[in-house]
Amino acid sequence: MGMEKKIIVTGAQPTGGFHLGNYLGAVKNWCSLQEDFECFFFIPNLHAITCPSYSPTELRHNTIQMLAQFMACGLDPKKSHMFIQSSITGHTELAWILGCLTPVGQLFRMTQFKAKSEQKDFVGSGLLYYPILMAADILLYNAHLVPVGEDQKQHVELARDLAVKFNQTYGATFNVPEPYILKTGARVYSLQEPTKKMSKSDPNQKGTIFIFEPIDGIRKKIRSAVTDSGMGITFSKNKPGIANLMDIFAALTGLTVETVEAEYGTHSYSDFKNCVAEAVIEHLKPLQACYFELLKDKEYLNAVLEDSKKVAQAHASRMMAKVYRRVGLF
Ligand code: TYM
Repeated sequence: MGMEKKIIVTGAQPTGGFHLGNYLGAVKNWCSLQEDFECFFFIPNLHAITCPSYSPTELRHNTIQMLAQFMACGLDPKKSHMFIQSSITGHTELAWILGCLTPVGQLFRMTQFKAKSEQKDFVGSGLLYYPILMAADILLYNAHLVPVGEDQKQHVELARDLAVKFNQTYGATFNVPEPYILKTGARVYSLQEPTKKMSKSDPNQKGTIFIFEPIDGIRKKIRSAVTDSGMGITFSKNKPGIANLMDIFAALTGLTVETVEAEYGTHSYSDFKNCVAEAVIEHLKPLQACYFELLKDKEYLNAVLEDSKKVAQAHASRMMAKVYRRVGLF
């Protein structure tokens, strides 16, 4: 009998298209994990409704688009499970149970909750509860590793705390998952405000590169990226704009930032921006072609979801049966 593969669980919200941060910080790296791990890549649509102003029609549309994006970025349904969170019974049930073990203070201290709730007039309880649902997503499949960008690290830490607490309270049940964060691309910054992370909801969309947006727009955005008034392509805290472009370039070409500095150090800012733009475009072109092809075949996309759903549900049901027994539920 062969050794069982370790389990990877991760997801990306269906709130509009992937941007370069989601791609470099997350999805691109997921591809290389597919050979060695059993991977559960899911679309957390229940997380997406924590945003009070979402449109249900758009959400359904974006959910299917997200699957096509996963696949265009290299996730392979023959190797990995790809499914929609709300189509599996277990995520919300486990979230409720884990919530009963979570101190509310820890939720109020979450960086993302603080940042998001400050921006809103209405703060739904779902936004506060969000990290518990994420912990449930991870523990439901008994993940060993959770590949995410830097911004999700605190949430994975909560999942670890809850795994430990559950195991102590009810007996050994869950693996304690590890976050898996890469060095380059773990935090891609806005091209317009390079001290702020690149984000889908940034009101200044010139700072965000969506990986399936038209090529010309991408080129323009990179050429007009905000930099400092100095010169020299060097990686320094005082040059956040250039450092961000170097990081993007390194993540795409597989070079280290040190090599980028050595090879491009004497380039002008505008020359370097052109190099980055061309590297981004070369990389994205085939992904875009594949994405638009996939979108034409909704039947195939639905079949992928159906197949994965069966496997994911079997895992989830097995885990929930165990959890209910341990907790004393029927
Ligand atoms: P989401 O949808 O915001 O982002 C998806 C992935 O992209 C990473 N990311 C970034 N990486 C680098 N630079 C950036 N500027 C950047 N912006 C986003 C995120 O870290 C993430 O890995 N709560 C999660 C979704 C989720 C999940 C889970 C993830 C729900 N349940 C269970 C892992 C496991 C989220 O909102 O990611």
